[in-house]
Amino acid sequence: MAGRVCPWWMAYTFDNPLRHFIHKPEKLLGPYVQKGMTVMDIGCGMGFFSLGMARLVGDSGRVLSVDIQQKMLDVLKKRARKAGVLNRIQLVKCEPGTISVEARVDFILCFWMVHEVPDSAAFFQQLRQHINQNGRVLIAEPNNHVSDADFEKTVRLVQESGFILADRPKISMSKAALFVAHTA
Ligand SMILES: C[S@@+](CC[C@H](N)C(=O)[O-])C[C@H]1O[C@@H](n2cnc3c(N)ncnc32)[C@H](O)[C@@H]1O
Repeated sequence: MAGRVCPWWMAYTFDNPLRHFIHKPEKLLGPYVQKGMTVMDIGCGMGFFSLGMARLVGDSGRVLSVDIQQKMLDVLKKRARKAGVLNRIQLVKCEPGTISVEARVDFILCFWMVHEVPDSAAFFQQLRQHINQNGRVLIAEPNNHVSDADFEKTVRLVQESGFILADRPKISMSKAALFVAHTA
């Protein structure tokens, strides 16, 4: 595992009830995630956004919550059970270079995780393999860890992987960009 990966215990410093004052998952993702969709939260951590995504897709939808750390997925499982949405969530333990998911999805969230990925160009090419035509990808990176220049490099790499930059949503404490998968 790369040294700069957020250790599971550190996730409690930002994934706690106070975070709802700055990030409101259903409001933030509501424009992109609809009932019945299959969506992916990659680098889901303890599932702050996966739970909101599960409410948005409803009983007919599915959330693939993917992370390289089993401990993150274990906490997410407990939270999802408590929230009554575990039946909508598939927990996937992956390796840093391999997403390990068979399905194609309608929406992918990468929240505060891309800067932890060792080979981001290869990572975005994998995302392209896992998204439906016209599917959308939302990338948000933390202001305190990622410079404007580095974020613009990320935007270029995503575009080079077959996505169109569609929007620059305003997200608190973050730099963010929304992409749409090219139609072939
Ligand atoms: C800073 S945390 C953010 C967690 C969550 N997205 C949130 O906003 O609360 C980054 C997460 O990305 C995961 N991660 C890092 N590299 C990854 C990779 N290559 N594939 C999947 N997950 C990864 C880490 O294990 C960690 O759980």
